[in-house]
Amino acid sequence: MEIWSTKKSAELYNIDAWGAGFFRVNDKGNVEVTPHGAGQPGIDLKELVQDLQERGMRTPLLVRFPDIVNARIKLLSTAFHNAFQTYNFKGQYRGVFPIKVNQQRFLVDEIVNFGRQYGLGLEAGSKPELLISLAMMDNPEALLICNGFKDPEYVETALLSQKLGRNTIIVLDRYSELDLVIRTAKSLGISPRIGFRAKLEAKGAGKWVESSGAKSKFGLTASEMVKGMDVLKAEGMCHCLELLHFHIGSQITALRAIKDSLTEASRIYVDLAEMGAGLKFLDVGGGLGVDYDGSQTNWENSINYTIQEYANDVVAHIAAACDAKGLPHPSIVTESGRALVAHHSVLVFDVLGTHCIKVNDLPPEAENEKQETIVELRSLYNTLTAKNLNEHMQDAFKLRDDGVSLFNLGHLNLKQRAVLEKLFWAFCTKALEIGEQVARKPEELAVVRRSLADSYYCNFSIFQSAPDTWAVDQLFPIMPIHRLKERPDRKAELLDLTCDSDGKIDRFIDIKDVKETLELHMPKEGETYHIGMFLIGAYQEILGDFHNLFGDTDAVHVSASASGYTIEHVVAGDSINEVLGYVEYDRHTLIRQVRGAVEKALSAKKISLEESRLLMRHYEDGLSRYTYLDPADLVNRSESAVDALKRITQRQEHGARLIGAGQASPGGNSALAAATFAAGGLSAKTPQ
Ligand SMILES: Cc1ncc(COP(=O)(O)O)c(C=O)c1O
Repeated sequence: MEIWSTKKSAELYNIDAWGAGFFRVNDKGNVEVTPHGAGQPGIDLKELVQDLQERGMRTPLLVRFPDIVNARIKLLSTAFHNAFQTYNFKGQYRGVFPIKVNQQRFLVDEIVNFGRQYGLGLEAGSKPELLISLAMMDNPEALLICNGFKDPEYVETALLSQKLGRNTIIVLDRYSELDLVIRTAKSLGISPRIGFRAKLEAKGAGKWVESSGAKSKFGLTASEMVKGMDVLKAEGMCHCLELLHFHIGSQITALRAIKDSLTEASRIYVDLAEMGAGLKFLDVGGGLGVDYDGSQTNWENSINYTIQEYANDVVAHIAAACDAKGLPHPSIVTESGRALVAHHSVLVFDVLGTHCIKVNDLPPEAENEKQETIVELRSLYNTLTAKNLNEHMQDAFKLRDDGVSLFNLGHLNLKQRAVLEKLFWAFCTKALEIGEQVARKPEELAVVRRSLADSYYCNFSIFQSAPDTWAVDQLFPIMPIHRLKERPDRKAELLDLTCDSDGKIDRFIDIKDVKETLELHMPKEGETYHIGMFLIGAYQEILGDFHNLFGDTDAVHVSASASGYTIEHVVAGDSINEVLGYVEYDRHTLIRQVRGAVEKALSAKKISLEESRLLMRHYEDGLSRYTYLDPADLVNRSESAVDALKRITQRQEHGARLIGAGQASPGGNSALAAATFAAGGLSAKTPQ
């Protein structure tokens, strides 16, 4: 058998391609994060997670690397400056981060601070986002772009923000907003800075193609823009129209689509300028994509261009259009969100159990069975070869169906049905082994492959942590974060904790295709098997929901430092208490109700005193705990109520000691845990 290596693991999971220089497999066989980019000091993700768990943090755990965001900001900004030189472009580059993509305070704080040197501003798409942006921004150079639905309050706030020295531009997403802005500005006596969002005919490419084109939700049509210019002229406000904006959808997969939109938008820009608008900015929106599968193609989970090619195209098109009309070059605004933050978050979760359906040999109970269907299927099993594979597979499927019909008619008992079932899986296991070797694969082989996939039960909720895998079939790179020196000899689908049949992942990135199973190792006795889901920093956190009441996970911000890493912030995930509070349950009322039921049972002598104490302890303790499972609790215990009480008390005391030592509680008071870390629990660790 071929010897396995870390290099083979890197190839199998394609990490060097989608990792974009931030993730690799190290010599220890663990995933390593290099937050400052390839060749820079790395953080061993497996060791980091172990370290964090020793401090009381729990899985599933969201690890954020703000340095990665900073590296991406620098990369995008540098790409535009390079393009400016190449095309002798005279305008400036003015990026804004659309905070809808990830509104977490620590992240926005980091982006505003690091982005200051690049003049990076913020884009708000709603009133709450405007309120965040107003408070967080303090750089008079940086733009504050106001998109989304607007009411008078929104417009007044945006206009008044100019008085604070904010560089605020109100972008009209709908024609009716023009009148609102003019009236409000007049009543406040403030000269508005206006942008038009153009509804382009040019279409995007990829999953969000419908955000563009004539039927898109936002934007002004050509006639609305012309009408708008007439109104501005009549009001003597043409100079107020400073910006032209367009957005043709997120994750644009093909450079062709970007070029088309730029051609159209640049033409609109120069015509509006010639009509007298005081245009200074061309805002090319978001859409810069992320290569989630590393294939560098125009497939929906990839992109067929680099950031530099993107910047070159934007600059070249705008320069050409302005030069042709002898107009000055505008400042270029980008609203890239996904491309800045997707890489920075990793979700680490553990495997709680596995289920394997494969049966490698003829089941002994099938050997002497005389029932006709079983005899026939056994014969198919024994005589199966590459030559008769197709025929035998069809016969085997038919026999399995016949067996179920016979059972329903009472001609097969449950034990015989169980033998038939096992024999069928043994047949399928053998058929799959043979089938993978032959060139002409029978149609049923795909069904068999899917059916025989192992099931890995995992400690997370896709609805909370990666909702786009469910909502829009988005693929994120997923791989074990350790044991990468070993061959992963299982093929599995991942099942989450929710009791929803959609709560699973059975589509994974592959170099040329999508695969239905992921290669994984068999978890070892006594060791937690950790899997990482990567590139989930854009949109996932805020889109996540509380299906089955699984709450926010613990999250930690980790920065690379010369001596290893620094834990900057810990944000404790929801406790059961908190999640129940979101749906209006009150801890005290719940406890009182259960206590009432316990008292009744005690009076009726249906429960012993110890049992009642244990039940109440479980109930009260449970309310304070994490909504996810603790693998340590999954071991089978046969203990008396008294012993269980002792164990829970010890665990609580241990939790309290960790808090006392400046650590987070493993299953305890999350608010206290967060406060303890934030107040003084910052720590550095030197890599071993
Ligand atoms: C107006 C606008 N700008 C920017 C963005 C961010 O897009 P992306 O994350 O693809 O860069 C969006 C999101 O779709 C948007 O609607």
